[in-house]
Amino acid sequence: MRMVDIIEKKRNGEELTTEEIRFFVNGYTEGTIPDYQVSSLMMAIYFQDMNDRERADLTMAMVESGDQIDLSGIQGIKVDKHSTGGVGDTTTLSLAAMVAACGVPVAKMSGRGLGHTGGTIDKLESIKGFHVELSNEQFTKQVNDIGTAVIGQSGNLTPADKKLYALRDVTGTVPSIPLIASSIMSKKIAAGADAIVLDVKTGDGAFMKTFEDAKSLAHAMVQIGNNVGRNTMAIISDMSQPLGFAIGNALEVKEAIDTLKGNGPEDLMELCYTLGSQMVVLGGKANSIDEARVKLEEVIANGQALEVFKKFVTAQGGDASVVDNPSLLPQAKYQIELPAKKSGYVAKIEADDIGVAAMLLGAGRATKESTIDLSVGLVLHKKVGDAVQEGETLVTIHANREDVSEVVDKLYKHIEIVQDKVEAPTLIKEVIA
Ligand code: URA
Ligand code: CA
Repeated sequence: MRMVDIIEKKRNGEELTTEEIRFFVNGYTEGTIPDYQVSSLMMAIYFQDMNDRERADLTMAMVESGDQIDLSGIQGIKVDKHSTGGVGDTTTLSLAAMVAACGVPVAKMSGRGLGHTGGTIDKLESIKGFHVELSNEQFTKQVNDIGTAVIGQSGNLTPADKKLYALRDVTGTVPSIPLIASSIMSKKIAAGADAIVLDVKTGDGAFMKTFEDAKSLAHAMVQIGNNVGRNTMAIISDMSQPLGFAIGNALEVKEAIDTLKGNGPEDLMELCYTLGSQMVVLGGKANSIDEARVKLEEVIANGQALEVFKKFVTAQGGDASVVDNPSLLPQAKYQIELPAKKSGYVAKIEADDIGVAAMLLGAGRATKESTIDLSVGLVLHKKVGDAVQEGETLVTIHANREDVSEVVDKLYKHIEIVQDKVEAPTLIKEVIA
């Protein structure tokens, strides 16, 4: 088989066979096919697209390029959740405990944050003692015993995707639906999930800026999942403004605990119920989304979800007393209030830039090597659509330095207040089940 023939075939709009797809994925991973040929093929795919069968084959070729996590020691249907990334997205922390409390095992492999989006592991590490270094045996046992566990990324998962993504990044071939969908799905499948729930974000703070693009990506991923034998559902949710009120590691842990107590921000609670319902259905613990939602509301109301969270924190070495006493979480030295400069309605809280503002305080990593300050961040007091009076607090800045003028400027620039009433954005834009 020759790579140039595969490139020409795709350039001409023809369908690639399973063998041809495996040939280039394996050849590229092993280093026998050079970057320039693969970039050419990526560009051909960008223009010519792939059909459902090719997309499924590409996904599985990437899954098989490296290690796969074996979760067979865990009883039940393992359902994983993936978000395409956002600002202040604390969902995973609450959701894992909620879903586990309904009897669906959640065995999660998570990453650290990079840039202005946070990572679940960083957030959890703001709980004193919490660690994610579990052996495979400990991981399996913990999920069987208490319903959930989180480990850091380990093993050599999807090396083909790592190489392809890095190449796409510098060859103008990232924004291609078949390439993005297979990239994301290959990682979830290699991590061992039996079933997958996807939260595809749309809006200013999201990877997919427009609803139409988010919808195409969501449908593509659901199709891939179902074609390779992993039941998959998706939602499309708003990321034009940050999720919830808190942005920053310890601040988001507190918000997740509030959510588990039933007192979380309205949007975060709703997102947890919506995604959780899909997870409980896919996990076989409810026959319909409505039935699943009732179960989730019950485990919040009767405290069972919070109980699972406490056990989970304790099992991973963390101090679970933060649950009853969140002031034990790392606290920043200064709490600086940002007053509204005029009265009116909040029209915009641009998620991307608010995320960058939190990063400037030290809550996020500018590069992979940066260290982060777990205590700092932002707490919004208003969301889009809210009325505001001049002088009222828009945001509390949690900082470990006195001079936050750069952050203040950024916040004023990216929080827009207008005269006329503004509608709050719809959070859940579509449910694909
Ligand atoms: N995120 C991924 O993991 N892969 C892509 O291709 C794009 C975004
Ligand atoms: Ca939040």
